[in-house]
Amino acid sequence: MTNPPVCNYEGSDYQQSFWEQGGREYEDRAEAIALKKMLPKSGKLMLELGAGAGRNTARYAGFERVVLLDYSTTQLAQAQQKLGRTDQYIYVAADIYRLPFRDQKFDAATMIRALHHMADAPKALKQIRNILRSNAVFILEFANKLNIKSILRYWLRLQKWNPFSLEPVEFVKLNFDFHPKAIRNWLADLGFSIEKTRTVSHFRLGLLKRIIPARLLAALDGFFQPTGEFWQFTPSVFVKAKTKNGIQTDEASLNVIDLFKCPDCEGEKLEENQEYLHCPVCESNWAVRDGIYDFRERMKSKV
Ligand SMILES: C[S@@+](CC[C@H](N)C(=O)[O-])C[C@H]1O[C@@H](n2cnc3c(N)ncnc32)[C@H](O)[C@@H]1O
Ligand SMILES: [Zn+2]
Repeated sequence: MTNPPVCNYEGSDYQQSFWEQGGREYEDRAEAIALKKMLPKSGKLMLELGAGAGRNTARYAGFERVVLLDYSTTQLAQAQQKLGRTDQYIYVAADIYRLPFRDQKFDAATMIRALHHMADAPKALKQIRNILRSNAVFILEFANKLNIKSILRYWLRLQKWNPFSLEPVEFVKLNFDFHPKAIRNWLADLGFSIEKTRTVSHFRLGLLKRIIPARLLAALDGFFQPTGEFWQFTPSVFVKAKTKNGIQTDEASLNVIDLFKCPDCEGEKLEENQEYLHCPVCESNWAVRDGIYDFRERMKSKV
């Protein structure tokens, strides 16, 4: 079965150009506040989906281990530089639509600014549901099509697409904004219950960002974020969802090889070699290079 295309960040200087030089200190701080209010204080194993250059990873310090998953190895290499190659962090190059993990292995997951690139969001969310244990926390950030700017533009006839309709809008190729109700419906269909909703980036306006220090503007944002429980008109929304109570599986595994499955045949017993993982069921090999487990494509030839 073919999966939707991946938005390619290979070689991108996203972290530098968008965050560090892009005047987005306010957004970064506002997200930090939302995460702090939603994250469990501690936990064993966290999966960060679409981790990029690891901008948020240090914020998950309450977890014993964090798996950073991204399709781009250059983003993961930047994350490694920032966070180091310690046992605390596991770097995995893979497609969110084709996760290389066994079912019910993680007790938390986050996906920040990555659903944004999913042409088939329900399919991506289903993969995530599968790898979470019961009673696990999932923090999802999504770009909100029902934001004030898009509503005004629609009413003034400056924009054709309707911010009130439930379907996602692809405003640039492989960049999608979602309706909050559609997200709630998808999560409910997968058996998640929503515990908290925070609206984020209330003040994403050039003029305000220029005249008010980022720290202050973010603190103000933090003050308004809980109104997300009642209405959502900001460009970014954070949802804290939980998987339901079910049959409790073993403890979240901290043994790396026990986390993985073969993304081609779903075989669960991968064999560990120095430079690759071997699947004895379908005979595929998955490269392990520079501290990154690469599950994007099977290796062409045996090492
Ligand atoms: C906008 S960046 C966000 C990075 C990080 N979460 C942050 O907020 O700074 C989106 C990330 O999602 C990754 N991504 C996009 N599509 C993906 C897919 N299908 N599978 C895995 N990662 C994907 C990209 O490589 C990129 O690093
Ligand atoms: Zn296999």
